[in-house]
Amino acid sequence: MTESLRRQALAVLLEPDADRKAAAAQALDLDAGLDEAEVIAEPPGIPGRPARPALVAHTQLKARGAQTLEGRAALIHSIVHIELNAIDLALDAVWRFDGLPRAYYLDWLGVAREEALHFSLLRDHLRTLGRGYGDFPAHNGLWDMAQRTRHDVLARMALVPRTLEARGLDASPAVKARLLAAGDAAGAAILDILLRDEIGHVAVGNAWFRWLCAERGLDPMTTYAALAAQHGAPRPRGPFNLEARRAAGFREDELAALG
Ligand SMILES: [Fe+2]
Ligand SMILES: [Fe+2]
Repeated sequence: MTESLRRQALAVLLEPDADRKAAAAQALDLDAGLDEAEVIAEPPGIPGRPARPALVAHTQLKARGAQTLEGRAALIHSIVHIELNAIDLALDAVWRFDGLPRAYYLDWLGVAREEALHFSLLRDHLRTLGRGYGDFPAHNGLWDMAQRTRHDVLARMALVPRTLEARGLDASPAVKARLLAAGDAAGAAILDILLRDEIGHVAVGNAWFRWLCAERGLDPMTTYAALAAQHGAPRPRGPFNLEARRAAGFREDELAALG
């Protein structure tokens, strides 16, 4: 018997090798059953991670210009790392939370596959610069938020896709400009693919956040503010990519609340 998709997602999340994880995420058998109702106990070892990169505090990472090859490789590496985390976050949303509609799981499985594509595209691009994933230190901020929101799918939707991934929408134009200024047209073209897909991921987060708020009879605005304060979400920092955020389903009152 094939394992349920939620159990398959958990198995991929536990995979320590980054390349194998990305390949397995893209090969998930979407014809397998989901078993939405199954409550799966958390095994040790989540997420599976390679020995490198070393994970350090955010403050220990050096900001470097993208004009040197080394600086550009460090910049690409930081995004490769984000994409690996994003595979983990999407898979975690699938196995961890039970009792949601079938469409919720299919949405996040689709996100996991796209994050795996992003990881692969950028990892391959990094290789053209003579470096590989693991060659620079990285931080664990994304997974920290997964940990803080592990008990509640509403908090997860609020603070991972519609906060952290939405910050990626804001950051994208400036990173693309830095790559173009450094003559890296191939890297900039990859960022275009990422931005297109990430709008979809934030839209998935917005849709399920609103669905959960409606189901629990909660107001999305005040609920988001309360969750952001409770879990120490990073403060919004402009400039904001309002066009991308609108396309991802943020409402005007939510955009105005960014400050
Ligand atoms: Fe991504
Ligand atoms: Fe994403």
